[in-house]
Amino acid sequence: MKVAVLGAAGGIGQALSLLLKLDLPAGTDLALYDLAPVTPGVAVDLSHIPTAVKVTGYGKEDLNTALVGADIVMIPAGMPRKPGMDRSDLFNINAGVVKTLAEAIVEQCPKALVGIITNPVNTTVAIAAEVFKKAGTYDARRLFGVTTLDVIRAETFVAELKGKNPAAINVPVIGGHSGTTILPLLSQVADVSFTDEEVAALTVRIQNAGTEVVEAKAGGGSATLSMGQAAARFCISLVKGLQGEAVTEYAYVEGAGEYARFFAQPLVLGKNGVEKLLPIGSLSAFEEKAMHDMLATLKADITLGEEFVNKQ
Ligand code: NAD
Ligand code: LMR
Repeated sequence: MKVAVLGAAGGIGQALSLLLKLDLPAGTDLALYDLAPVTPGVAVDLSHIPTAVKVTGYGKEDLNTALVGADIVMIPAGMPRKPGMDRSDLFNINAGVVKTLAEAIVEQCPKALVGIITNPVNTTVAIAAEVFKKAGTYDARRLFGVTTLDVIRAETFVAELKGKNPAAINVPVIGGHSGTTILPLLSQVADVSFTDEEVAALTVRIQNAGTEVVEAKAGGGSATLSMGQAAARFCISLVKGLQGEAVTEYAYVEGAGEYARFFAQPLVLGKNGVEKLLPIGSLSAFEEKAMHDMLATLKADITLGEEFVNKQ
């Protein structure tokens, strides 16, 4: 098994790579790629941790070598937000980053499972899909926008509010990964009840959790450590799926298209990536309205990505 991390020297990339060095199955090759000159050093640093995962580092000129034969590619490459910015403000820089990396995936590992972390996720996943489609390699089961952070945040905040163990709480989060497109389904949380006021406040907190971190870091970037954990959890689930274990996760994928072309939803992972899409279940009146109100934004974000590739 080979896992490549693109953007591996960044805040998320380093945290993710550390967790993967600790948690990937013995015998896995972990390839770290980044434009930053420190990247080979990050790999040497990690390689001193005594696990049976082989870490190699690749700089600017070595993207193809980092990717060749990869089974899984995780992409946290690109600019993070500063206070006052929306995720969509990252489009101008990050769209080109994701397009370039997707083009290299087409050449080096067209069958890899690809997890996109780079914002704006609502749009960058559509960019990768269109690059793969143009090249004739697109398989919707193998491309994921990583929205695990929304799920772990929702679980943490619900547990905090209700005095429960976060490990025992499951909160579905559907839609996309920005502002109101992030839709937690609090009505589906087992064994917990909320007042209408709690639902309204928690929903907004989950939707704005990224901004909460951006503001707290005061210009020093956005979530890196919690995202590193979320991305590692998702990557390990992809690995388990490839090994034949059926694992349920939430991710932003091209599904049946009832709501939008790409939509974060529950799914079962397996040997080919998405093995099965699961239904989103029943929504409360509050959630139905929130879903209805956000779909135009989500669809516009997707169109932006499609046009970025197809108008060139
Ligand atoms: P960072 O600035 O710390 O790291 C980004 C890294 O990407 C840098 O090391 C940089 O050299 C590298 N990079 C830039 N262009 C590259 C290219 N073409 N090829 C390879 N590497 C390249 O940023 P970060 O905090 O790690 O965030 C990375 C991205 O993840 C941002 O876009 C951020 O908004 C996004 N993010 C997404 C989620 C999510 O839930 N999906 C959560 C947090 C952050
Ligand atoms: C997050 O949710 O923390 C990330 O998308 C980063 C951001 O810009 O908020």
